[in-house]
Amino acid sequence: MVEFKINGKKVQAEKGEILLDVAKREGHEIPTLCHHEKLGSDGRCRLCVVEIHRGSRRRFVASCLYPVENGIDVYTDSRDVLLIRKTILELLLARCPGSDTIKNLASQYGVFDVRYTKDTDKGKCILCGQCIRACESIVGVSALCMSGKGPEKKVTTPFDEPSEVCIGCGACAVICPTGHIYIEDKDGYRTIWRKKFELARCPKCNRFHAPIEQLEFISKKTGVDMEELLICQNCK
Ligand code: SF4
Ligand code: FES
Repeated sequence: MVEFKINGKKVQAEKGEILLDVAKREGHEIPTLCHHEKLGSDGRCRLCVVEIHRGSRRRFVASCLYPVENGIDVYTDSRDVLLIRKTILELLLARCPGSDTIKNLASQYGVFDVRYTKDTDKGKCILCGQCIRACESIVGVSALCMSGKGPEKKVTTPFDEPSEVCIGCGACAVICPTGHIYIEDKDGYRTIWRKKFELARCPKCNRFHAPIEQLEFISKKTGVDMEELLICQNCK
């Protein structure tokens, strides 16, 4: 076991546990934008920053990546932590002025306007990478990637073309914390990432429910018959 303090209160945790998880378990609020229970983190947003003291040494770390250590003093909402979070939120708000998620989070930290030039071409994407990781680790198809550098960096499909491997499942859109990914189900078709998928119709209720490509993918992976997969969740 590891023993340390969070905001002055003694806590115990298993060796190797991540600070964010322990802090949350102990009831300390830490905001996150790129962390997901199933996918973990790769430390992109830095919003989960906390202050750590060990003796006379003071550091600021991303709590979603930091394995707990014996004897550290952790502060989750010190003056400097709040200042760093405010600056991050101001930058995110300048990048995505149309995102309600960012606006709400920023207002909780007293950030209502920005000192920087606002972007008009980034949509609501904060480059957290969760859509890419979900596509790779949960779905297992790797249809998305980051392309470009610096301010041109964006999430897209390879060569900005409709992806050959995308199955239209929409996991990326579900996991996206800001609602950036456009997905439309209309007239028996799903459109996502510039690709159009025919939706399967449930033979029992006649409702369109999932892309045929997605059901074929699941059938191939699991061995479950297409006939069974064509029946929607409500009618099973
Ligand atoms: S599209 Fe959404 S999930 Fe993907 S990187 Fe952008 S904000 Fe994150
Ligand atoms: S949640 Fe830790 S860096 Fe984004």
